[in-house]
Amino acid sequence: MQRKENVYGCITFSNFTMTMKEEIVPYARMPLPKKEQVALMFDRIAFRYDLMNRLLSFGIDVSWRKKIVRVLRKHHPKIILDVATGTADVALELASLHPTEIIGVDISGEMLALGREKIKAKKLESVIHLQLADSENLPYEDNKFDAVTVAFGVRNFENLDKGLSELFRVLKTGGRLVILEFSKPYIFPFKQIFHLYFTKICPALGSWITNDKMAYEYLHRSVESFPDGRNFTAILDKTGFIETQCTPLTFGISSIYTGSKS
Ligand SMILES: C[S@@+](CC[C@H](N)C(=O)[O-])C[C@H]1O[C@@H](n2cnc3c(N)ncnc32)[C@H](O)[C@@H]1O
Repeated sequence: MQRKENVYGCITFSNFTMTMKEEIVPYARMPLPKKEQVALMFDRIAFRYDLMNRLLSFGIDVSWRKKIVRVLRKHHPKIILDVATGTADVALELASLHPTEIIGVDISGEMLALGREKIKAKKLESVIHLQLADSENLPYEDNKFDAVTVAFGVRNFENLDKGLSELFRVLKTGGRLVILEFSKPYIFPFKQIFHLYFTKICPALGSWITNDKMAYEYLHRSVESFPDGRNFTAILDKTGFIETQCTPLTFGISSIYTGSKS
């Protein structure tokens, strides 16, 4: 029997799990670790990723990413790391802060390839550099970045604690962390509408447009099981971040988490 530790630090075996919390992976029957499954999933849906985001959120996701930029504006970061950068939407928004360099990292080569095309189209190749790299093992020295951002990425980390520790390590003292992630609306009727939308409509649309229904079922399962609100700021506190805050956006469908390093 194969022993394995999941994102929540629970010991799991191939035939049964010793805890109630199962590891949430995109393709449950695929005998690959979560990280490889996530990279594969984003490689598969990359060609329709931006379109799906705009459709599923009715374009609101654009304003959520702009909020990251607004949070950072007063801090004038010069060198920024965008983790799980995907097709570089956040990195491109961050360019409006006129930093000297933005580095975007991701484990999906296909997402990065599309990101590079967008950066080239905006003639920002001298400012934004994309690199294939794992958030849980960042190839940068300690205390390098003035700001670290992650949009819709932390939920996909295989080892959340390791990923967050890496963000902390590469952030400068006094640097800012900004995380954008889905959260769960708790108020009637948004809770019920959100549930119906995420469990029925998203997988149907995902199946139709990307031909990968499981990717959009994973979206719902991963959001449901991921800590949000105070549960997530508590994890950031435990990692070592200070002044952590959560700001819910659009009825709590997503939230912006901020923190700093002392
Ligand atoms: C939902 S997409 C978000 C992309 C982008 N930040 C955005 O706002 O659209 C999540 C991204 O996280 C990346 N990812 C997941 N785990 C990662 C890891 N351990 N290291 C780096 N990137 C990761 C995936 O490949 C994917 O591109």
